[in-house]
Amino acid sequence: MELIAKYHVETDLPIKKAAEAIAAEQSTGTWTEVQGSDNPLAARVIFAEGTEVEIGFPEELFEPGNIPQYLSVVAGNLFGLGSLKKVRLQDVIFPESLMQVHKGPKFGIEDARRILDVHHRPLVGTIVKPKVGLNPKGTAAVASAAVRGGLDLVKDDETLTDQSFCRLIPRLEAVMDSLDKVEKETGKKAFYAVNVTTGADQILERAEEAVDHGANMVMIDVLTSGFSALEVLSRNINVPIHVHRTMHGAFTRDKAHGISMLVISKLVRMTGGTNLHTGSYMGKMAGETEENDLCRDALREEWHGLKRVFPVASGGIYPAKVHGNLDGYGIDCIVQAGGGVHGHPDGTTAGARAMVQAVEAWQKKIPLKEYAKDHKELETALKYWGS
Ligand code: 3PG
Ligand code: MG
Repeated sequence: MELIAKYHVETDLPIKKAAEAIAAEQSTGTWTEVQGSDNPLAARVIFAEGTEVEIGFPEELFEPGNIPQYLSVVAGNLFGLGSLKKVRLQDVIFPESLMQVHKGPKFGIEDARRILDVHHRPLVGTIVKPKVGLNPKGTAAVASAAVRGGLDLVKDDETLTDQSFCRLIPRLEAVMDSLDKVEKETGKKAFYAVNVTTGADQILERAEEAVDHGANMVMIDVLTSGFSALEVLSRNINVPIHVHRTMHGAFTRDKAHGISMLVISKLVRMTGGTNLHTGSYMGKMAGETEENDLCRDALREEWHGLKRVFPVASGGIYPAKVHGNLDGYGIDCIVQAGGGVHGHPDGTTAGARAMVQAVEAWQKKIPLKEYAKDHKELETALKYWGS
């Protein structure tokens, strides 16, 4: 069995030569003949035509379980090869032998729905804003106001961790207390994804401490922390994991060079995320729509028996952008808004209600403007941000 990696390649070389150079550099070879490079660990060119290249890597090249090592093979030195003008890793098909050692999410879509007791509708979430600057009490006030408006998930922003102005444990305790109060009063349950992102030496300890202090979800910036950091969390802690993809644009944005979001989605499912930011069909981030369908399917379709992962639409979303995202992602997704909740002229709770109303309108197949006639928060949002 082999691992198959698919690349987009732009080069002045004949495409077969370029493909052979990738296969050699990433397996047994170098730029010239050396003794012993003709061995069973050599990768082979499966396909090379136009700008499309497929390389088959023998499974013995890989150390099962070692995700960083997999990436050093399929996404390693080849990106620096001077003979290639552009190269993008588009997809990876992992052999069963490697898939067997990755357990995937401990908490998948169905588990998260069960915890919240929310079924048959998309989840609606928010990012606490301002991004940084609130203290624990201020964060808790924003979080509880959002849940009072009907939101299912509140998360930290990707740059907020454990800085001196808003320490993680006091913030977590304040937010969980405030969410407990809302639940007691209204019955509404919600996740708070506290961002435990930190260095490899501390991340598990930090996440365990968060869970000990009542966290019902943790968040990780997976591309700055590493996939193995996510995997260590999913194997060792007993809450769902929200996965932010900050930094992805450095290698996903150029459609001819880098690494696709599809590959990142597969790695996050293998290593145990519950929710993954996959981009929005309509929002503020550039050029994200093309790969959204692929990521959505990679996270949710049957795949080696792994639990299903929520795609998260986030970034520049407000009520009028909800429909476009739900048309793309369907019911099993999380639609999130930061500014699009807290920037509502009547405040966070009204902003949360407007987002929930936009989701209801989509589910009932009622045009937004018509639904807004009987839903004042939505009406205000549409007037303020456009419809
Ligand atoms: C995110 O982390 O997804 C962003 O902070 C979204 O924020 P926005 O909805 O205000 O663009
Ligand atoms: Mg953010």
